[in-house]
Amino acid sequence: MRFITLLSVFACVVISFPLFDIVPEWSVNTFSLFRGNGCQDRLLKLGPDEYRLASEKEKLALKKANKRFIDMTEQIPIEVAVEQGLIVKPTHSFLQKLFFIGSKQIKTLEKPIPVYNYPKKTKYNSEVKSLYDLINIDGVYENLSNFTSFYTRYYKTESGAESATWLYDQISELIASFKDISIKKVHHKGWNQFSIIVSIPGEVKDKVVVAAHQDSANLILPNLMRAPGADDDGSGTVTTLESLRLILEAYGKGTYKPYNTLEFHWYSAEEGGLLGSIDVFSRYYKANEVVVGMLQQDMTGYTQGSIDAGVEPHFGLIEDYTSIELNNFLKLIIKTYNSIPYHSSECGYACSDHASALENGYPSSFLIESEMKYSNKYIHSVMDTIDRIDFDHVKEHVKLTVAFAYELSLAKKLH
Ligand SMILES: *[C@@H]1O[C@H](CO)[C@@H](O)[C@H](O)[C@H]1NC(C)=O
Ligand SMILES: *[C@@H]1O[C@H](CO)[C@@H](O)[C@H](O)[C@H]1NC(C)=O
Ligand SMILES: [Zn+2]
Repeated sequence: MRFITLLSVFACVVISFPLFDIVPEWSVNTFSLFRGNGCQDRLLKLGPDEYRLASEKEKLALKKANKRFIDMTEQIPIEVAVEQGLIVKPTHSFLQKLFFIGSKQIKTLEKPIPVYNYPKKTKYNSEVKSLYDLINIDGVYENLSNFTSFYTRYYKTESGAESATWLYDQISELIASFKDISIKKVHHKGWNQFSIIVSIPGEVKDKVVVAAHQDSANLILPNLMRAPGADDDGSGTVTTLESLRLILEAYGKGTYKPYNTLEFHWYSAEEGGLLGSIDVFSRYYKANEVVVGMLQQDMTGYTQGSIDAGVEPHFGLIEDYTSIELNNFLKLIIKTYNSIPYHSSECGYACSDHASALENGYPSSFLIESEMKYSNKYIHSVMDTIDRIDFDHVKEHVKLTVAFAYELSLAKKLH
């Protein structure tokens, strides 16, 4: 027994050491033979009132079993989680030594979500629709092809950091001639792939956010195996990129200048438990930033599931754990601007980065390529490739994003 305990301490320390983060999964598995539940040093939130500790290996197993969560480790010290009764005290004494040295400060967990007066009618129909002629689907294809050519965009890998740099360079070039538009790398503690934020300042600081996640993951061996991530979420990434390009066309001509500050976000490490976005929105919360609406798009290009089921292509509007009011605004936008309808769907707690906005008291919505049951089954594997992407569908998401961003960024009297 004693021998095993000693080994488990050793394994825990070795594996959580950043340098050793690239240890292949098999060796983690081998170690874990000796360490029972292993190094449960991550605090996961699996539902509004459901927290638990988990090891990296257990995180992966949860994801494979389709259980979603926010990894709250950097937001709530484990000590505080215990004090607040969110989890029971870890039983391993070494864990207590390692983690019971954090701050004593109690974090407010309940962040009320304000209700804003979103527009009940659209106002810029001809302005927005005139931008649709400029959508360049060949360019979108090229960029997605390039983005999926990175071996993996897993947040802990070198190529994951390189793909972020590639994306950053594309966006930088795009906004280069606009002096007042900023681009920022948000570096996260513990891994190298950064998140990206583009901000078009409005007359007021209230923010409208459109977002996607840039990382991909092969859930069998994330550190080792290829993960093209064409749909998840390369499609959302290029949808957001093309939408920014179109908005800038109007901005450059001087026909559009936002009233609210308009931001475009590309998060790192969604697949690690919304790690990038929870960092971004927690920082916003601490800085007293106001976000009047956040739209996440994670998977925008797969229609084969609908087609096979004999169902018309449609958006999946996620109606659980999202803002009812913002969803209503989204329904108005879809009805006004799109040639496909939405179907209501649900995806459970924390299924994408909109949950990080909500967690910090910001209303958010999540629009996906279809109802969950028809969505892409090839994600998180080598098979999530560009040939499975329907670019007419991506185009509908671009139209939606541009309209959402345009209308909401110009909306006044939201408070
Ligand atoms: C990729 O996207 C950027 C930004 O929208 C754009 O400037 C560029 O032309 C696109 N690449 C191609 C090959 O179309
Ligand atoms: C990706 O983009 C880079 C820089 O923009 C370019 O040099 C490279 O040829 C592209 N690769 C692919 C596979 O499209
Ligand atoms: Zn995703």
